[in-house]
Amino acid sequence: MGPTLPTLLTGHALEGELHRITFRYTDISQSRRSLAQAAWALSRNGIIRLTGVVSPNLVLTLNHEINELLKSLKIYQTSGILPDNIANTYLNTQEKLMLAGYKKLVNADKAVINTRFSRPDGRSGSDAGMIDIFHPEKLSSELDKTIQNCTQITLIRKLISLSTLKKVQAKCHNLYINEGVQDTRGFHCDGRALKFKSFVFLTDVKELEDGPYCYVKGTHRNSSAWDHTCKFNSMNNIDPCEFTQLGKNNALAMLATAGDMVISSQSGAHRGHPQGPDGHRRVLVTMYSPKKH
Ligand SMILES: [Fe+2]
Repeated sequence: MGPTLPTLLTGHALEGELHRITFRYTDISQSRRSLAQAAWALSRNGIIRLTGVVSPNLVLTLNHEINELLKSLKIYQTSGILPDNIANTYLNTQEKLMLAGYKKLVNADKAVINTRFSRPDGRSGSDAGMIDIFHPEKLSSELDKTIQNCTQITLIRKLISLSTLKKVQAKCHNLYINEGVQDTRGFHCDGRALKFKSFVFLTDVKELEDGPYCYVKGTHRNSSAWDHTCKFNSMNNIDPCEFTQLGKNNALAMLATAGDMVISSQSGAHRGHPQGPDGHRRVLVTMYSPKKH
């Protein structure tokens, strides 16, 4: 027996499953009962979708600010001249890494602009072409303000804490900019410790070609998929975080409209679906982990 993949739901089956884990942001922000229902769904499934978290105007503002950044990056890549708005950052390119290692990136004192590229050993899952910006709120006071308004940390922290019965804190913001990224990592978890991410969609993700975030509900807990994966991986010398035994499960492509938010337990099986060559996706991510005393 080799690795087995989940069935990616489509059409009405997908719509029905998504509907069951979708809540309106206005409801959860105004009613304790709705907030508790969303927290319960998150605890049970490992994932929920909130609609209408960010207004279309604010999405437009943030996208405009990102466009300015991308323009500056292009100038730097083509001329070597460093425009002012990205001068005070760590720039990681294929030619030169200024900062490496996840821990260092999370604790960086300035924004880090990472351009992902193919691995030298040719291994897949490189996210080649993706731009991953750590701490985008440190780029400017305008971005700081926009990002605080988009991520709604106070309420989301409350929701996750309610769902896990543990106090959590927002640790880090990232901006993921994916255009035609085809070499994405397969289903995996980010370890089994408590860790959540919220994803604010800044573009519509309506098709598989757009590269939706995909998730296997319930795998954040000790399910049979996890037990079988542990056994299979240890026998075959595979990293325990690669979810290799998902054959009997369904995966959900978390389709979203710009302004929606997905909240996900990172100990469940997840991946970004490979994009089509013209796929286009922008997501603002916040990572939550247990509060240190
Ligand atoms: Fe991951």
